[in-house]
Amino acid sequence: MKAAFFDTKQYDMPSFEKLGKENNIKFKFYETKLNEDTVALAKGCDAVCVFVNDTVNAAVIDRLCELGVKVLALRCAGYNNVDIKYAKDKIKVVSVPAYSPYAVAEHAMALLLTSIRRVHKAFIRTRDHNFSLNGLTGFDLHGKTVGVVGTGKIGRIFINICRGFGMNVIAYDKFPAKDSDIDYVELDELFSRSDIISFHCPLTEETYHMIDSKSIDKLKKGVVIVNTSRGALIDAEALLEGIKARKIGAACLDVYEEEADVFFQDFSGHIIADDTLARLISMPNVIVTSHQAFLTEEALHNIAETTVSNILACLKGEECPNELHI
Ligand code: NAI
Repeated sequence: MKAAFFDTKQYDMPSFEKLGKENNIKFKFYETKLNEDTVALAKGCDAVCVFVNDTVNAAVIDRLCELGVKVLALRCAGYNNVDIKYAKDKIKVVSVPAYSPYAVAEHAMALLLTSIRRVHKAFIRTRDHNFSLNGLTGFDLHGKTVGVVGTGKIGRIFINICRGFGMNVIAYDKFPAKDSDIDYVELDELFSRSDIISFHCPLTEETYHMIDSKSIDKLKKGVVIVNTSRGALIDAEALLEGIKARKIGAACLDVYEEEADVFFQDFSGHIIADDTLARLISMPNVIVTSHQAFLTEEALHNIAETTVSNILACLKGEECPNELHI
C-alpha cells in the first residue's frame, strides 16, 4: 500500500516511517501542501495524508478520485479545510479526533501564564543580565472568571486546569454537555463577564469571526483572549484595533486566520508580507506560537498510530470509527 504524505514536517517522519514499515504502508513524503497544482503527486497511491493547511476542495477531490485514491486521511482533528459534503460517496475521509487533548489544553494554559506573568519579557531581560522588574507586574489567576467557548475534549480539560488554579469557570457551547457540572451561560453573558476567554470550539460558519468589532464592544476592558482552536474564529484586524484601543488586555494566539502561508516555515531574515500579523507580533501583550499546541511526543505517536489504523481499516473495507460523515 502506498500513501502520499503532504505538508511533511521533520517531526512527522520518524513515527510514520516506523508504523508504516510495521503495517506495510509505504509513505511518500512531500514537503509541498496538497492543492490543485500538487494533487498529481498522489498518482499511484491508495491514500493521501494531509494536515490543517492542505486544500481539499471539490477540484482536488475529483482529481484524487481520477487517480484512484481511496482514502483521504487527515492527521488532525479539525477538517474545515476539506469539502466533506462533496467528498461523500466519492472518497473516504478519516481524521484523528483526539491525539492529545491534554497537549492543547496545557498549551493554552502555558500561553496564558506566560502572557499574564510576563515570562516572555523576563526571559529576554535576564538573558541580557537585566534584572529590573519594572513593567513586569502581572495578576493572579485565582478568583478570576474564565469563559470557555466549546466544552468538548480540549475545553473540558482546560476547565479542569483552570479550576485547579481557583478560577471561576463559565462556559458556552452550542450543544451543552448534559452530564456535567459546567456553568453554562449565553455567549453575550460570557463575553461581558469573563476576565479571560479561551476558545475550544471548531471553525464553522457560525463560529467564523466570533470575535469581531461588534463582539469586542461587549468584552470586559482588559480581557485576555486565548485562541488555540482555529484562527478564523477571530477577525485579526478587529483584534488589533481592540488591542490598540486598550480594550483587549492581551492575546495569546496559537492559530491565525491567514496562517497557511506563514506558519510552520522559517521566515527569519525575510520581510513578512502580512502587516496584521507583523503588527500583532510587535505588540508587547501579544504572544504568537505557530500552531504548536498539539506538538508533544505523546500526541505525535497517537497521530501516527490512529492515522495508520484509519488507512488500513478503509483500504481493507472495514468499518472505521474515525470516518467523517456529514
Ligand atoms: P470536540 O469536538 O471534542 O469539542 C468541540 C466543542 O465545540 C463541542 O463541545 C461542540 O459542541 C462545541 N461547538 C460546536 N459548535 C459550536 C458553536 N457554534 N459554538 C460553541 N461551541 C460549539 O473538539 P476538541 O478535540 O475539543 O477540539 C476543539 C478544537 O481545537 C478543534 O475544532 C480544533 O479546531 C482545535 N485544535 C487545535 C489544535 C492545535 O494544535 N492548536 C490541535 C487540535 C485541535
